Amino acid sequence: MNRKVVLSGIQPTGNLHLGRYFGAIENWVHLQKDFDCVYCVVNYHAITMPYNPVKLQENVWELVYNLLACGVNHESLFIQSKIPEHTELCWILSCMCSYGELSRMTQFKDKTDQVKEKNKDAFVSCGLFTYPVLQAADILMYRADYVPVGKDQDQHLELTRNIAQRFNAVVGKDYFVAPEALYTETPKILSTADPSKKMSASAGEKHNIDLFAPVDTIRKQIRSAVTDTGDRSDTMSAGVENLFQLLKACKQTVIYNELLAEYNNQTLSYAVLKDHVADAVIQLVQPIQDRKKEIIANKKAVKDMIKSSSMNIRERAIATLNEVRSLTGLN
Ligand code: AMP
Ligand code: TRP
Repeated sequence: MNRKVVLSGIQPTGNLHLGRYFGAIENWVHLQKDFDCVYCVVNYHAITMPYNPVKLQENVWELVYNLLACGVNHESLFIQSKIPEHTELCWILSCMCSYGELSRMTQFKDKTDQVKEKNKDAFVSCGLFTYPVLQAADILMYRADYVPVGKDQDQHLELTRNIAQRFNAVVGKDYFVAPEALYTETPKILSTADPSKKMSASAGEKHNIDLFAPVDTIRKQIRSAVTDTGDRSDTMSAGVENLFQLLKACKQTVIYNELLAEYNNQTLSYAVLKDHVADAVIQLVQPIQDRKKEIIANKKAVKDMIKSSSMNIRERAIATLNEVRSLTGLN
């Protein structure tokens, strides 16, 4: 039996921090065992906001190295712009998506504010407006059954299903599959510096723990994590809960249970908790960092591998486009 298809995309912006790792990448790696996985570094999406071309190119490859170091298989990984068919499918699908639907996308509104906040004279691109159609093209291109994403992408996935249905209605054939979201078990990881915020790249350096930071820096960041500000007797504070989350995410169940029992009888020292969390995170990132060093030492070979996997995956995209062109009267 054919394996079900999983597709996901990640933007080459910002660093790879623990939130992204536990919220997305770890799951990508895990899914490779049971599914036909296709993972995409979405550089066409990255140019929808003001950007620097040289930096973009660097970020794309850096992200590729990081994903490979985390355990993503090179055969599953491609760079979006190496498959220009995505833009052609995006055009066809954009003619099956209404202006009204796109106007309701909350990410467009958020990102418009971000563009204006950074520079009030910057323009908001049409690409930012049609961004969700490109995402629909990424997903439908490979007839993905499942799309591992965060909750923030729900609206885009719903739109993708609507576009798929409309396409099928126009061409009079059940051609595209309506994809479903796959959520990770790990809920939000919070910033250790400010547990009222989620861990994120855009909030600034101290608000995220980079998987590839020197281990001393990681330990320092965890040691200075905000825990309780006041009385310990009421419910667990967000900062302490986040540290426990991290322990759990690092699969340190035994220590997790021990420390939780200490917390419950009010004997837990937060310094001890932080040390355990730091040990667990370092144990997790150490082999990933070692793999990254090997990858960096073989950049040329790695680049060739990804170019070749992109070419192989492109064959699938070409086959879809041939069918789509003929179904839509465009060949
Ligand atoms: P972003 O960092 O917003 O580009 O998101 C990339 C992926 O990582 C998405 O699937 C997010 O849901 C996930 N992600 C990002 N930050 C966190 C976080 N702090 N906790 C859990 N998941 C996250
Ligand atoms: N929009 C997604 C994000 O901001 C990235 C993305 C682009 C994506 N194409 C995709 C995610 C296809 C899943 C499937 O995180």
